[in-house]
Amino acid sequence: MSKYIIRGGTPVAGDIRIKGAKNSVLTLLAACILTDGKVTLHDCPHISDVNTMLAILERLGCRTSRTGDDVTVDSAGISGDKIPGGLASELRSSIFLLGSLLSRLKKAKVAYPGGCEIGLRPIDIHLAGLRELGVRIVEKHGYIDCDSTRAHSADIMLDLPSVGATENLVMTCVFLKGVSVIRNCAKEPEIVDLQNFLNAMGAKVSGAGTGIITIEGVEKLHGVEYTPIPDRIVAGTWLIGAAICGGELTLSNVNPEHLSSLIAKLPKSTCKITCARDKINIICNGRCESIPKVETTYYPGFPTDLQTQILTLQTVSDGTSVVVENIFETRFKTVPELLKMGADVTVNGRTAVVRGVRSLNGARVSATDLRGGASLVLAGMCAQGETVIDNIYHIDRGYEDLTSVLSSIGVNIKRI
Ligand code: UD1
Repeated sequence: MSKYIIRGGTPVAGDIRIKGAKNSVLTLLAACILTDGKVTLHDCPHISDVNTMLAILERLGCRTSRTGDDVTVDSAGISGDKIPGGLASELRSSIFLLGSLLSRLKKAKVAYPGGCEIGLRPIDIHLAGLRELGVRIVEKHGYIDCDSTRAHSADIMLDLPSVGATENLVMTCVFLKGVSVIRNCAKEPEIVDLQNFLNAMGAKVSGAGTGIITIEGVEKLHGVEYTPIPDRIVAGTWLIGAAICGGELTLSNVNPEHLSSLIAKLPKSTCKITCARDKINIICNGRCESIPKVETTYYPGFPTDLQTQILTLQTVSDGTSVVVENIFETRFKTVPELLKMGADVTVNGRTAVVRGVRSLNGARVSATDLRGGASLVLAGMCAQGETVIDNIYHIDRGYEDLTSVLSSIGVNIKRI
């Protein structure tokens, strides 16, 4: 089993170019099967979640190839409508194939999805929306069996603005005759990216980024070349890294607007942030003051996917901070690992109280999920001495070639 070994305590210095967003790329890969034309996605990160999604597409009879950062999917020969349990449990995004399979083949059989160990992650909102669209659903033996031969456009109200359910339902609606409306939908930038991608293929989707999306059914979509939005969570992770370690970092290929909730939270007294159109420069001097309260919520609020990273910053900031997790139930799983490194954190349900300590100490710790794993890397980067991180396959799901990226900004890290 691979592990990371990090010698902490040095400030960061350098530039990082951010690749396409994992959460966009995975959704767009699912959407590729909406056309029998070829689709090329540029700037795809080399991460294991993308590889798993490509393996699922291959299993369905698509041809996929990768040249550098370009991934091409040709689904002309798609034959299967069943996502096997083994693969689906590796990747929660396989559930997003439900919508695109139903649009393309009129039926889909998807095993209950897997993904990060961060909470219950039910799919009731996805299924309720599909039922509103007239999809017949039978749930048995761990599979969701769907038939959309009688599907029709509809006006749907979501119980919660779920990202996955919004994406799935948009994909289910693209070919339905008439106009479908999805209300109380998610507003995340990845939804806007899906809309732009589908429209570039010939779809008629509007309203993404607001709470109401309208989809006018079209007959057919065509192949396209497309560049997904940059990964705001990877970019945010390294901004927090600069705040934790001190130093100067310039991120390129970023959309500063997508990170405004994080930028607003980072303490202005120690973190000087300058944004250009697609660049962010951060210069951090000295120890940060604690941020009194960070509360995760839906976009444009503070993202749950950066909660553990900002909590890690609080462990070495001056003062006490309260971190509230409103999206997923068990997203404080990394706290026991941070305690091993000398952090002072008390968790009570969805709330963590973090009292800043002088410094963290290197320790042997274990990643329990993707973003938690990235937070342990940040903790290792600022800790005194050596940190060994086990179970780094979680981190491989979403962070490309971490050793090269972090070495290039002066971090002493190796993978063995
Ligand atoms: C996506 C992202 C994930 C991010 C999350 C929230 C991908 C691959 N993953 O996950 O990184 O952390 O958005 O921004 O894009 N819910 C239900 N019933 C449902 C669906 C969701 O109750 O049918 C609840 C969830 O338990 C959670 C909340 O809604 O509390 C938000 O989940 P959702 O937006 O669906 O997250 P994902 O799409 O799974």
